[in-house]
Amino acid sequence: MATIAAPSAAPAEIINPFREGLRLEGATTPCLLVIFGASGDLTKRKLLPAIYNLAQASLLPPSFAMIGFASTQMDDAQFRDVLRDAVANSSEVRVRDPAVLAYLQQRCYYISGDFGDPAAFGALKAQLGVLDQRYGTSGNRIFYTATPASLYPPIAEKLHESALTVPEPGLGHFVRIIVEKPFGHDLASAKMLNAELEKFFQEGQIYRIDHYLGKETVQNILVLRFANGIFEPIWNRRYVDSVQITVAESLGIEDRGKFYEETGVVRDVIQNHALQLLSLVAMEPPLTFDARDFRDEKIRVVEAVHPICKEDVPNAAVRGQYGPGFVAGVNVPGYRQERNVAPDSIVPTYAAFKFTVDNWRWAGVPFYVRSGKRMPKRVTEIAMQFKEVPHLPFRKSQVEMIAGNVLSLRIQPDEGITLKFGAKVPGPVMRIRSVAMDFDYGATFGTEDASPYERLILDCMKGDQTLFDRDDGVEAAWSLIDPILQVWQEHPTVKFSNYAAGTWGPAEADELLARDGKSWRLL
Ligand code: BG6
Repeated sequence: MATIAAPSAAPAEIINPFREGLRLEGATTPCLLVIFGASGDLTKRKLLPAIYNLAQASLLPPSFAMIGFASTQMDDAQFRDVLRDAVANSSEVRVRDPAVLAYLQQRCYYISGDFGDPAAFGALKAQLGVLDQRYGTSGNRIFYTATPASLYPPIAEKLHESALTVPEPGLGHFVRIIVEKPFGHDLASAKMLNAELEKFFQEGQIYRIDHYLGKETVQNILVLRFANGIFEPIWNRRYVDSVQITVAESLGIEDRGKFYEETGVVRDVIQNHALQLLSLVAMEPPLTFDARDFRDEKIRVVEAVHPICKEDVPNAAVRGQYGPGFVAGVNVPGYRQERNVAPDSIVPTYAAFKFTVDNWRWAGVPFYVRSGKRMPKRVTEIAMQFKEVPHLPFRKSQVEMIAGNVLSLRIQPDEGITLKFGAKVPGPVMRIRSVAMDFDYGATFGTEDASPYERLILDCMKGDQTLFDRDDGVEAAWSLIDPILQVWQEHPTVKFSNYAAGTWGPAEADELLARDGKSWRLL
């Protein structure tokens, strides 16, 4: 039975450390943010630091408060301590300002209750009413479900039963819900989740988050392509030989064994983050960056990706699982030895796919996509490999290590863009070598990037869905992934582990490219 803490009393004096002039254009309207799963890892590691950073940057609306909701027993004071610790421990917090922390703590409340308990939702509703009065939040609400996807439907239903899914008549302008990835387990469950959410919320109220879209370098793919005249004319099958998308992590699964056993790399990273990168790099120019135009084009290209049908899976998809090994000189256990992982687990921690896109721009150009845990280093990169010149008027002996032009978009870390091209080595004879023209984010802009969650929470406050997934978008991505996962489920015969921690994945991944006469980039 849930115990519901009484709302703590109004603070004697409401601190406001903001200087008016600091507020940015397009600032958000007043709102109350409710975080379901407030005692969980995501809240502590990502959401609370992001909200603090927004406060610190004067980007929160002046009328703001938040309520944490979870089954863990806690009161307001303890949740404020959770906020304090999250800010203290996060490497994403840029400036630690006690006045900002105090300001936010004062606006921070907690309800402990079960996600299926009507009484807890009754308490939430009452609390929302009290805080609206106290902070002038005008009945505007954002519900953030930092919970497993299986809890979205009961939460949405209980919100509906408590009449919390629509603005109260005469009060408030919006009610929005943010839902986390992975959105479902497969196509059928994603459709079910969409249907369940859409029973109680309009599509325009639903914000499906994929934090990759909140990254500066990911958004910059669009700027590079659509705000410059020189790239778009060559961004097609006539000039591009192949594309490689790598999302490599040196970390293992940390303490998320239970989650990972149900998820694996394809559901965790490829269905969402990696396919977002593919869609941004391959999409047609949108008419505008309005949510509708942008998402229409983004989804259209995912729908144009040639489905890897069951018969093609052995030729176009590779799976791997790490065994014990060394990462950065440290001896680490294999996946099957991790906590909460079955000793005979067949869950992949690495996958590589060869996709093609069936449209005029990309017909015949392979998009190789790979992601893995316990790779030698953390690196996310998109590399556009351009075709070789049709005729090389230099002798072989004059050309050292020249491997065609590559434009690499370094998403993280070491954010930037590099163009590789051949240059003449100084000297009396003609010798050519590959050199790099480099753009470095940090050196150029000299600012630390906001975390993706800051940008996305802010966009939700502004009512901008552009960088969130639409129902048909997540379903299109699952449609591509489903047949592969099914074949792997039906044929669990690969001998895992098949790559050592600290290496670039199984030998089959190299063979996937070798069959096309290519190899993975050395990163
Ligand atoms: C998350 C996955 O969505 O993305 C994690 O659940 C993964 O397993 C993480 O480590 C990677 O995000 P980033 O921003 O560190 O590349």
